[in-house]
Amino acid sequence: MVEQKSMFDAEPDQGSETISSSALEQIVLLRKQIENWNYDYYVMDAPQVPDAEYDRKIQQLISLESQNPELITSDSPTQRVGGTPLSAFDQVQHEMPMLSLDNVFDETQLLDFDRRIHDRLNTDQAFEYACEPKLDGIAASLLYENGILIRGATRGDGSTGENITQNIRTIQSIPLKLRGSGWPQRLEIRGEIYMPRAGFNALNEKAKAAGEKGFMNPRNAAAGSLRQLDARITATRPLEMCCYSVGMVEVGTGEPLPEKHAEVLKQFNAWGLRINPEMAVVKNIQGCVDYYQMLAEKRDSLSYDIDGIVFKVNDLKLQLRLGFVAKAPRWATAHKFPAQEEMTVLNDVEFQVGRTGAITPVARLEPVFVGGVTVSNATLHNADEVARLQVKIGDTVVIRRAGDVIPKIVSVVMAKRTNFARDIIFPDTCPVCSAAVERIEGEVITRCSAGISCPAQSKQAIKHFASRKAMDIDGLGDKLVDQLADAGLIKNMTDLFCLDWKEVVALERMGQKSASNLLSAINACKQTTLARFLYALGIREVGEATAKSLAEYFKELSALMHADEAALLEVDDVGPIVAQHIRLFFQNTDNQLIVNKLVEVGMHWPAIDASSELALPLAGKVIVLTGNLESMGRSEAKEQLQRLGAKVTGSVSKKTDLLIAGAAAGSKLTKAQDLGIEILDEEGLKVLLNV
Ligand code: IVH
Repeated sequence: MVEQKSMFDAEPDQGSETISSSALEQIVLLRKQIENWNYDYYVMDAPQVPDAEYDRKIQQLISLESQNPELITSDSPTQRVGGTPLSAFDQVQHEMPMLSLDNVFDETQLLDFDRRIHDRLNTDQAFEYACEPKLDGIAASLLYENGILIRGATRGDGSTGENITQNIRTIQSIPLKLRGSGWPQRLEIRGEIYMPRAGFNALNEKAKAAGEKGFMNPRNAAAGSLRQLDARITATRPLEMCCYSVGMVEVGTGEPLPEKHAEVLKQFNAWGLRINPEMAVVKNIQGCVDYYQMLAEKRDSLSYDIDGIVFKVNDLKLQLRLGFVAKAPRWATAHKFPAQEEMTVLNDVEFQVGRTGAITPVARLEPVFVGGVTVSNATLHNADEVARLQVKIGDTVVIRRAGDVIPKIVSVVMAKRTNFARDIIFPDTCPVCSAAVERIEGEVITRCSAGISCPAQSKQAIKHFASRKAMDIDGLGDKLVDQLADAGLIKNMTDLFCLDWKEVVALERMGQKSASNLLSAINACKQTTLARFLYALGIREVGEATAKSLAEYFKELSALMHADEAALLEVDDVGPIVAQHIRLFFQNTDNQLIVNKLVEVGMHWPAIDASSELALPLAGKVIVLTGNLESMGRSEAKEQLQRLGAKVTGSVSKKTDLLIAGAAAGSKLTKAQDLGIEILDEEGLKVLLNV
């Protein structure tokens, strides 16, 4: 592969190629680069770079060629629409070329698109647009003669595609025979073949289990599945087809198609083909703007990947008048979402120590705009992930940020690896406190062994202690904890209670009032509940619910601190692992000192027996509901029982105190009988609830 500099290269002479080399040299380099990528993508099903990078290079080439039209050659990648037909399949000549779409990337460009159409048709009248999600899959053509599917083809290069009829026939949502009647005698229907996310994940899980590589993304998986020479393999893949346009039509003995694009699609739907349920017709370009906004918000909740919205003039006669430019229609455009995958350089890897001592490699990246935000950090999770990616410092990597998901490195662009790439070395001592690190057998995570005496762990522990669901200390956010700890004012949470107003007010950006407010918020948190206090300690695996169960069961802090494993296992939600974490926590002398000191400084909670909750009639009772209740819904019954203090759980175990069995109760009733658990019927429940 020719080494092509890109805007992502970290070399110091970035951008100099544009200044120094001639247009011809640049064009030749770009073509070679794109051809290589095309081959990897279309023939090998192994994309080398994210789409956004590919698109940029194509755009660069298009613009260079349009500035220097004498340099355009017929074999330039800009002179065809898409992929190279695979030689293993027979070729299909499309009777009407399968075109592509122009893209717009923002509202201004979208409004320009509408303006150009108005100018061309010389009218001020608003146009109706059909709006459809732009599915991220493979374009396909279905040819029906007298309602019978006779051929399925890929787009190929737009004029020649591959005959994939056998593979197409395995896709259940494509009718082999159209339903109803009235179809044109020869009818070519076009659409996108894609793999829904759930099917893609399942397929990759299966591949992983079999020790295979799996696919990079759903579109890739769809392409790979569709191009199988053995259609029996395609048949096992979860492919779908969604139809979005009409190709060649010969009405013959049939009936003509409707005159509006959306109506044509509805007609296809009536004939048994799938169309996108999100399709909508809007009155004007502002409708398109609104639709884009609406669907962008819905994007993550769709069951398939989309990479933009397609807007099409709805009136087919107008489409005809507008015609095509080069390889795309004038009457349609794709408003692309910001790319979710981008390339950048991994500048360095740092190791962060979390609350539980877990040491996480964090990638420091050359900042890159991806998924709508600028990303400069990404987690690399653990040593296994680093090994799986085979990533080194200095590598060019592909970053993915979809929706609100934390950005991650999905792959390394191996072709761009230089001799300067360095291995990522995991530290064998804690990067913050230099204590030994440990990796427990069977776990993928390396941890600092110092516990709370490690400054990094204590900082995180204090942040957790102050957080909303824990002590909820107003005004004490993560930044202020960092500031206090960095100033040496707090080493662990007990120090919060010894803070001096003068020290606090001396901090940067701290006003007198804020300092006073902070100290009174800290003071106020002393009055709490045992459950919150336990949660705030940040014991591994002890979340809010477990903390509550522990408080209810042990009632007193000292009882929990001295509990042995057997006693801990008696508590709901506590299994052997959680029990072990609790024991380890309270056995650690640093932790013991902290807990005792917190009590000493005045943290207190109401004695549990006297608390209102325990005064309730069903307090502490574990109840299971099963079968059908006539007088009320099960969720209503659950709510009423909870109001009386009961804990309602889903399955019967020896911890269950009572089973309420409605009509047609099944296995839970048998199990409760076997375990000798008290059982009440609906009448008994009513007595219990006093209704
Ligand atoms: S219409 C002449 N509608 O996007 C118009 N294309 O970038 C041809 N695509 O080749 C396409 N969803 O593979 C159209 N609702 C949709 C689409 C769609 C996805 C794909 C299609 C096309 C590519 C263009």
